[in-house]
Amino acid sequence: MKKIDRETVQKILDTADIVDVVSDFVHLKRRGANYIGLCPFHNERTPSFSVSKSKGICKCFSCGKGGSSVNFLMELEQMSYYDALRYLAKKYHIEIKEHEMTEKEREEATERESMLAVSEFALQHFENNLNNTDDGRDIGLSYFYERGINEASIKKFRLGYSLEKRDDLSSTAREKGYNEKYLVSTGLCVQNEAGKVYDRFKGRVMYPIFSISGKVLGFGGRTLRKDKEVAKYVNSPETIIYRKSYELYGLYQAKQAIVKKDKCILVEGYMDVISMSQSGIENVVASSGTSLTEGQIRLIHRFTENVTVIYDSDPAGIKASLRGIDMLLAEGLNIKVMLLPEGEDPDSFAQSHSTSELEEYLASHEQDFIEFKTAILLQGAENDPIQRSKAISDIVRSISVIPDDITRAMYIKECSRRLEIDEKLLTRQVSKKIAERIEKEAQQRQRQIAKESLNDVENIEQTDAVDVELQDVIQEVQTSQPLVIVDNRDSKYLEPYEKEVLRYVLKYGMLPLCEVCDEEGNTAPMSVLEYVESELKDDDIKFTNSQYARVYEVACSVATSAFENDLAETEKRLKQNYAQMMNDGVAEIQKTATNLSDITMQEQMLESKCNELYNKGLYEFKMMYIVKNLISSPEDVVRHITTDLVSEKYVLSKVHTKYAKIETEQDRLDEFVPRAIYELKDAILECQLRDIRYRIKEIGTKSGNADELMSLMTKTMELQQLKGEFAKILGERIVAPRK
Ligand code: UTP
Ligand code: MN
Repeated sequence: MKKIDRETVQKILDTADIVDVVSDFVHLKRRGANYIGLCPFHNERTPSFSVSKSKGICKCFSCGKGGSSVNFLMELEQMSYYDALRYLAKKYHIEIKEHEMTEKEREEATERESMLAVSEFALQHFENNLNNTDDGRDIGLSYFYERGINEASIKKFRLGYSLEKRDDLSSTAREKGYNEKYLVSTGLCVQNEAGKVYDRFKGRVMYPIFSISGKVLGFGGRTLRKDKEVAKYVNSPETIIYRKSYELYGLYQAKQAIVKKDKCILVEGYMDVISMSQSGIENVVASSGTSLTEGQIRLIHRFTENVTVIYDSDPAGIKASLRGIDMLLAEGLNIKVMLLPEGEDPDSFAQSHSTSELEEYLASHEQDFIEFKTAILLQGAENDPIQRSKAISDIVRSISVIPDDITRAMYIKECSRRLEIDEKLLTRQVSKKIAERIEKEAQQRQRQIAKESLNDVENIEQTDAVDVELQDVIQEVQTSQPLVIVDNRDSKYLEPYEKEVLRYVLKYGMLPLCEVCDEEGNTAPMSVLEYVESELKDDDIKFTNSQYARVYEVACSVATSAFENDLAETEKRLKQNYAQMMNDGVAEIQKTATNLSDITMQEQMLESKCNELYNKGLYEFKMMYIVKNLISSPEDVVRHITTDLVSEKYVLSKVHTKYAKIETEQDRLDEFVPRAIYELKDAILECQLRDIRYRIKEIGTKSGNADELMSLMTKTMELQQLKGEFAKILGERIVAPRK
């Protein structure tokens, strides 16, 4: 690692503009004095990442991550402190004086950094091969020229060449002092059984793959041989720095153009990206041969909501990649699709057309996915009713994954128009599909839980049968730690109680639960979520089930980040409806009413009806708010648990059925929610008691330690007393439920 002197550090920190720095990774929009965007540290669809230019800091109000420019880079790109500074220095053209790495400093560099360093070395090595060796120029460079790739593109994409030798890279790297270990861990070299290390890439043109911040993570190497004996591409393997499903080829070079044009064009191969970019269409990325992953889609979503997928006109290939469309839709992106003329791919098309022709073609040949899917699925079978109904159900499925209600409705309309099917019928079909999917997801979750609990049972049996010798160790550990619940068994025991609390949060979180009084005697409504939050905080309770904990966290963040705004908008809309209905109603009454008292009476009725609708609208909005947000979450866990818990009506947990009927649940929240909280607290006490009992038993079998025994006894008594109080509270509520 190289050191940077203090003065330079200060200069870098003074120069860096946080908005500028963050904008390289996140699409920011101005909001008042600050800027906001989608948080790059966690998955979200509504922006909660805020950047303050004047303060020089950024922060996500949902996951809490952020900080200065340096913190931001360190966190996001897993850079070291000095690397982040170096990155900024480069960005702002600040010269830094560094001293060479000492042996010790070199050792200190983390594995990741070493891997990045050796990859950077390889990048420069391959580039040098291409431009400054005979073979590189004769074979590699002339290949690129032959394919119409110019010097500027070669520089921009840092293309290179690996010599036709088995140790060109490895021996040069060794000479320069790079550790062989990292040559192997990056996959640049391969180690054979005898332990000998040789190059992975030989006699290939090299396409480096960059992270969004421009670090080289891996390579694709294309053979120049025409025979089918060798693989066309050899790629770097998946490593800790190159996680393929989270990277997109060309994104580093394309990201600014993507933001500027507010659109990302998705193609298949390295060459497609380079040729399009060279032709002036720079907002292009490739998934590099593999089918698109959720991680890649989210990467795109950081920069834009608009994606155009370009397909070669190969029907088989297209059908295979239709799933990618559904994934893009499910992420809430606006997707357009484009077919190229027969026999063309983006590379050949870009090479054979001028920039303006290309732009013209792009602008006039984009289709929305319904048009595209209809065309693909109905090709040559327009009049076959069975084909037709299959195609329709396929499109219905695509529409059903769109998270946004309005967009979905828009596509239903479009589909109805295009396929001449009744809109209401389509809407019903789409709703059915959504319901089916929720049901299916819930079942899968259930099965998963069942499987996990089976595993847990096995684990418990194993721990119960633990060696006698081991028990000393266990005791040692247990007595040296405070009373926290980390035990898997406890977690299993607590799970139904935690689930119940979470269920109330998800289903009714934003509904008012009770009124609270402040010191001055003002009352304000407290929501279910607020109540749960304060109760859990007071006793420092966290969900032991990590999935529940995550869902709860997301629910809380949804409630704080966007709720106020959404509420205000809903209120505005409801007020408009109210005014409209009143107007219409009054006009109607005046037309039909016979006398003045009749008018007054009818108007009163109208007003109370409008009021009722207004309140009902507001109540429904609050009631659905958390569920609606979470059910379309990009995080699998959040979606699954939410669908699972809210569709649980019919499989009420035991905890619940003992006391309540589902029909009245909503009306009796003030009773049920506190009960669920107390039951959870009671269960936690029970775990603590169990733990102490176990320890007492342990100590009892040994002599001495009377002091500790005493203190454990005292603790037991305290907990038991607390438990008694809970029992009373719970008992009262159980014995005398309000009818
Ligand atoms: P293509 O076969 O279309 O390659 O595969 P290409 O990039 O257009 O290459 P040229 O035009 O023949 O030079 C598309 C992408 O699939 C991946 C690569 O990322 C390639 O860019 N691929 C393909 C592989 O990883 N391995 C292969 O053997 C083939
Ligand atoms: Mn190609």
